[in-house]
Amino acid sequence: MSQELNKYSRTLTQEVSNPAAQAMLYAIGMKEEDMAKPQIGIASTGYEGNPCNIHLNGLSVHVKKGIQANDMVGLIFHTIGVSDGMTNGNDGMSYSLPSRDIIADSIENVVSAQWYDGVITVVGCDKNMPGAVMAMCRVNRPGIMVYGGTVKSGSWKGKKLDIVSAFEAYGQKLAGNISDEDYKGVIQNSIPGQGACGGMYTANTMASSIEALGLSLANSSTYPATHEGKQAECIAIGAAMKNILEKQILPRDVVTKKSLENALTVVMALGGSTNAVLHYIAIAHSAGLELTYADIQAISDRTPFIADLKPSGKYYMEDMLSVGGVPAVMKYLYKNGLIHGDCMTITGKTIAENLEEVPDLDFESQSIVRRLEDPIKPSGHIQLLYGNLATRGGVAKITGKEGLKFEGVAKVCNKEEEMLEALAKGEIKAGQVIVIRYEGPKGGPGMPEMLKPTSAVMGAGLGDKVALITDGRFSGGTHGFVVGHIAPEAFEGGNIALVEDGDLITIDAETRELTVHVTDEVLAERRKTWVPLVPPFIEKGVLRKYFKNVSGAEEGCVTDK
Ligand code: FES
Repeated sequence: MSQELNKYSRTLTQEVSNPAAQAMLYAIGMKEEDMAKPQIGIASTGYEGNPCNIHLNGLSVHVKKGIQANDMVGLIFHTIGVSDGMTNGNDGMSYSLPSRDIIADSIENVVSAQWYDGVITVVGCDKNMPGAVMAMCRVNRPGIMVYGGTVKSGSWKGKKLDIVSAFEAYGQKLAGNISDEDYKGVIQNSIPGQGACGGMYTANTMASSIEALGLSLANSSTYPATHEGKQAECIAIGAAMKNILEKQILPRDVVTKKSLENALTVVMALGGSTNAVLHYIAIAHSAGLELTYADIQAISDRTPFIADLKPSGKYYMEDMLSVGGVPAVMKYLYKNGLIHGDCMTITGKTIAENLEEVPDLDFESQSIVRRLEDPIKPSGHIQLLYGNLATRGGVAKITGKEGLKFEGVAKVCNKEEEMLEALAKGEIKAGQVIVIRYEGPKGGPGMPEMLKPTSAVMGAGLGDKVALITDGRFSGGTHGFVVGHIAPEAFEGGNIALVEDGDLITIDAETRELTVHVTDEVLAERRKTWVPLVPPFIEKGVLRKYFKNVSGAEEGCVTDK
């Protein structure tokens, strides 16, 4: 092995002073010649329980081969992964966002405890990716993220399907709009195999933007899980890791304020998930940077929304491969001054250098990505709203297809279940602003996603007739006129806790306003008798710790502030 590589081996330095560690490494099969090699931790969120993660342990083996082939020792370890597709709509959802921070903590813990010289994270679902990147920024040792890849679309009776089709079929079932045969057909055929949910939902949003951030190889976000390019990417990680180890290119050299802007620009251009707001604020915190709602609004203001991808559009992530994937979109944005080209990446080159060989988008032969002059919406779909309902802000997802303003009367639901009951009883009506509260970071706890309510609304045919606001979050699969992340949350006494049925609410994406038209005096009067709803599951254990430590949504819901 090269002396250059050797000199960066912290593992070696530590182990020389710890013969027991060397003895243990011999016990796991390492040879004398391996002892001086850098040790690279390979963190996998692989497990058998869902399609997003089922193949990740297999990909980790390919990563390990690439590491070993480049004169380093690869050591696979495992951390948890929670699938939001499975937790949405049930109590398990309270554990989903906390899983991001457990993943970050666990990777930080192993890499730091075992003195690994670098870390590769092999991840595939919504919380895995931000959790992995948070850990990489915290430990700040050479690191690369490998995305498990998107799933292919399913189909039933000639119609393309994905995970959201299953939730929307549920809404159709509640409304009596689907036959038993079709309901079963959709459920059994919406997901054909391994890979992350196929639209521009949270997993693909985070994978695309982390590629733009500079922490994964080109097309990591675009190759479907079963594509041959995915395996090749895993093997290629070894040479990439060797390069950044030799050059000591660290995550915090890559994750800077400018590269965070690049990542969020890609989120806006592709119409990504509102969860990106939460996760990038948390990633910035882990990197010792500050990213605010004002920063994100500024990026949204200057970035046209140009990709016709689900959930609001027509195409899936698998379709992006044929147009050149995320690198082609980045090149287009870079050439038009929307991406900073001078940011360092894990290839050891800048963004601009990486994009030199990337083919241009061809606007004549495809309709997935549109020209900046002919966007779906001239500015970003993510808007940060303020008003007496959200004095610390709320995050709206407004693609323009739903309109830019909604005014309606409140239909108040404490918790998601109450909303679904109201829908089943026919109490949700056109013109209402559905308020789902006590779903915040503390009040949920865990800031659950409201995919089941928003999909049920769509399935019931009310998608363009109601708006929905919440102190919880939305799945990347959510579409419609929605505002989440409302802070302060109801449990902390935010005004969302004081709204009553029939109050008039205005949501305006142009003035960025979220207002309940009730006077301060009336709100103060209501507050005198207000009693917070105590969140469930917080007597002990992980949610107790989360409840005590989690910061507000506008601070990224971090637990180490
Ligand atoms: Fe894992 Fe959607 S539930 S990517």
